[in-house]
This record gives sequence, structure tokens and C-alpha cells, in this order.
Amino acid sequence: MKSRQTIVIALLAVSAIALAAAAAAASKTAGLVLTLVAPYLVLAVFLLGMVYRVIRWAKAPVPFRIPTTCGQEKSLPWIQNNPVENPAGPLGAIGRMAGEVFLFRSLFRNAQTEIVDGRQVFGSAKGLWFFGLMFHVSLLAVALRHLRFFTEPVVPFVTGLSALDGFLEIGVPALYISDMTLLAGLAFLFLRRAVLPQVRYISLFADYFALILIAAVAATGLLMRHFFPVDLNAVKTLAMGWVTFAPVAPVDAGFLFYLHLCLVFVLIAWLPFGKLSHMAGIFLSPTRNLINNSRRRRHLNAWNAPVKVHSYEEYEDEFRNKMKAAGLPVEKE
Ligand code: HEM
Repeated sequence: MKSRQTIVIALLAVSAIALAAAAAAASKTAGLVLTLVAPYLVLAVFLLGMVYRVIRWAKAPVPFRIPTTCGQEKSLPWIQNNPVENPAGPLGAIGRMAGEVFLFRSLFRNAQTEIVDGRQVFGSAKGLWFFGLMFHVSLLAVALRHLRFFTEPVVPFVTGLSALDGFLEIGVPALYISDMTLLAGLAFLFLRRAVLPQVRYISLFADYFALILIAAVAATGLLMRHFFPVDLNAVKTLAMGWVTFAPVAPVDAGFLFYLHLCLVFVLIAWLPFGKLSHMAGIFLSPTRNLINNSRRRRHLNAWNAPVKVHSYEEYEDEFRNKMKAAGLPVEKE
């Protein structure tokens, strides 16, 4: 399927969610289902789905050490090893993992290859690392700031984060830096897929859908904050009702809030089943989380079927005369 068609289908899928939100805003029953029942249903789908995925990953056989390495392995004492690029023990693996999770280290090393004057030339390509990291950190900041709806009194860390995020004091209410960086990150990630032919070629519906869905969540949030204000007290009462398991239906939260909520619910419910489950999967990736000790320890596949082996000794016993006749060296005369 052409990438343009895939993008249109992803847009249509997000528009279908908007229709569901319109229904929730128009019908009292649908509104009640969305605000009172859906949150628990979505949470259950998310938690059970994530547990299911993690159990499946954890059960996948990893009989051998398969970490990706690009540094000297620990071996003889006079050969210096690289404990991070080729972890020899758990500390190295944890350090490497932390670099990956917090700094997207492997993306930082992303290189671009070009043929210049008939020669292969490697260049630095930091765009994906920079905007990818920016997008993820911004999303985390937005999610943490939302805790103001779910805690009473609001955790001081959340108030501090919001103050720091809005310190530019542009507009009333203040424009958050993380909202801008979130949109910039999303724009880069989307354009990278839509414009670069190599990335466009391998992009699927799920790739565009994830980006468009998150962009729609951010856009509806920004619209509520800066252009069509919603009753934040009603939202807080609703959110506190959810966390205290005594949900109260909002009087009239309006279409935009229902739309924001519908998009968020679809995003959260879809998380365990789509590519966004990498948020848990990264920790279970054997190419990242294993230590490399293949040369120091023999790893045997515990469930190998018994194999009748033919040792060299047996081989030589069988062919000694022929080997001697052919002039080949033998170990036993
Ligand atoms: C994946 C989860 C969510 C994401 C990514 C998200 C994203 C956003 C963004 C980017 C904004 C713009 C302003 C800001 O950054 O604070 C926003 C605003 C808002 N969001 Fe969310 N949201 C999420 C979940 C929720 C939930 C569950 C609720 C319901 C309590 C909610 C209610 C609101 C409200 C009421 C605003 C307007 C805030 C204001 O006027 O200051 N959001 N959201």
C-alpha cells in the first residue's frame, strides 16, 4: 500500500475516535459510559495486556547469550575490555541499559552512510536521537503534570514541575515548554517517516497511527488549555472520583474534553498490543540486557534433544589406518 494511503487511513482511524467522542458528548448514556465505566475498562485492558505481553516475552527461550556488542570482550587480564559496550557482569549490563533507557544511547551512535566520489563515507546523524529523546521527555513531563488532576493536595513535585515548565510565562494560562517540544518532536518523527524514502518504505499503518493519535491528544489538550477552556474543577472532581473508586459524572464537560479522553483511552488501551509496548519490551530485550560471557562460560541449551556425538577420539579410532595411509597426522599410534 502506498504511504499516502496509509497516512490517510491512520487519519481516518483517529477521526473515527472523534465520532465516538461526539456521540459521548451528545448522548447522556454514552457520556456516562465514557466517564464512569471506560476508565476502569481501559486500565484493566492496559494492565492485563501489559502483563500478558511481559509474561510472553519472559517465557521466550533465550538459550544463548545474544547481546549486541561493539567493544572488547573481557578475556585475558592484559587485554583491556570495554565494560559498557561489552558488559562482562551485571553492573555493566545495568549501566548500558540505563544509558539506553534514559539517554537513547544507541540512537546517538546512529550513523549515516553515503557514497561520495565512489567511496563509502560515514557521517553523524543525530536528528533522530535529539528529537526522539525530546519527544519522550516531553511526553513524560506532560503525563507527570497531569497528576495535578489525580492528587489532592497536589504533590509539590508536580506543582514545581508545572512552574518550571511554564517559566517562560508566555500567555495566560502559561504556555508549557514541554507542549511545544512535544509537538516539535512529533512533527520531526512524522516528517521523517513521510519524507525520507528509506523510512517511508518500511513505515506501516501502526507507525503513523501512533504518531497521529498522540498528536491528536496533544492538540486537543492545547486547545482546551489555550483556546476553549474547560471547567478544570469538574475535571478534577471526575479524576479524583476515578482514583478514589467513587466516580462522579461531570455535569457537562464538553465535546473537546470528551474527545481528549476518548483519544487518551484508545492510546492507553492500544499500548500493550502495538509498537508502543516497547516501553516495557526494552527491559526484556536479550540483545540489550544480557551480559556477554560466552567465552568464559559454556552456555548449553537446557532443552536440547540428546544428540549422539562422534568425538574426535572415536573418529580417529575409526579412520586411523586410512589416515595413516594418507599421511595424515594421528594422535594415537
Ligand atoms: C496519555 C495521556 C495524556 C496525554 C499525553 C495528555 C496530553 C495533554 C496535553 C499535551 C495537554 C496540553 C496542556 C498541558 O500540557 O497540560 C493536555 C491538557 C489537558 N488534559 Fe490531557 N493528556 C493525557 C491524559 C489526560 C487525562 C486522563 C485527562 C483527564 C483527567 C486529561 C485532561 C486534560 C485537561 C483538562 C487539559 C487542559 C488543561 C488545562 O487547561 O490546563 N488529560 N493534555
